Amino acid sequence: MIVTIDGVAASGKSSVASGVARALGVPYVSSGLLYRAATLLGLEAGLSLDDAPALLALLEQHPPRLEARAAGNRVFLIGDLGQRDLTPDLHSSRVDAGVSAVAVLPEVRAWVNAQLRALPEPFVAEGRDMGTNVFPHADAKFYLTASPRVRAQRRAQERPEEVDAIEAALTERDRRDARQSAPAPDARVIDTGPLTLDGVIGAILSALPARTA
Ligand code: DC
Repeated sequence: MIVTIDGVAASGKSSVASGVARALGVPYVSSGLLYRAATLLGLEAGLSLDDAPALLALLEQHPPRLEARAAGNRVFLIGDLGQRDLTPDLHSSRVDAGVSAVAVLPEVRAWVNAQLRALPEPFVAEGRDMGTNVFPHADAKFYLTASPRVRAQRRAQERPEEVDAIEAALTERDRRDARQSAPAPDARVIDTGPLTLDGVIGAILSALPARTA
């Protein structure tokens, strides 16, 4: 059983996917973390973020591993010096600023998609193209939206930046992510603006087909 939850940046996908997964008693999978891990590793290695062959070589040499735990996803890097948890570094502003450039590279997308498709079912997967490209045969598909202002106000509670600056950065990221962020034709679109987190989770749970819920 696979449920996909796609949507624009800061639309609440991770919190919603985590809540839905917990209610169903299955793990959730945050695909964006793998794009963020590729970006962090590229930055730390001093690579140009549009250098697909160099990024891919880095990912294949030391593959970051996504642990899809129900309570929260983590990304680990197994290196010569042991295991490093990349998770705390994946939401920095420099990763935010670079990740769209990495996420448009077809080679990186293919690498991420192979990691995701190797995960054992059942799970709830969240991202941009879970319902379109990665799991087109998912049992149920959802797409979350909200205005840039609402999303910026939510994110301002997590980061030490001004709402206006966050809104401008989100609008720019929407523009750059647009190509891989279209809703699947069979996805149910939910505007999360007027809803609480529990409201969105409830809307999804009540829309699930009986054999999934
Ligand atoms: O969901 P997020 O903000 O953590 O995603 C980080 C970036 O990764 C985002 O700018 C778009 C990209 N992304 C993607 O292109 N496809 C996905 N399935 C998930 C994320």
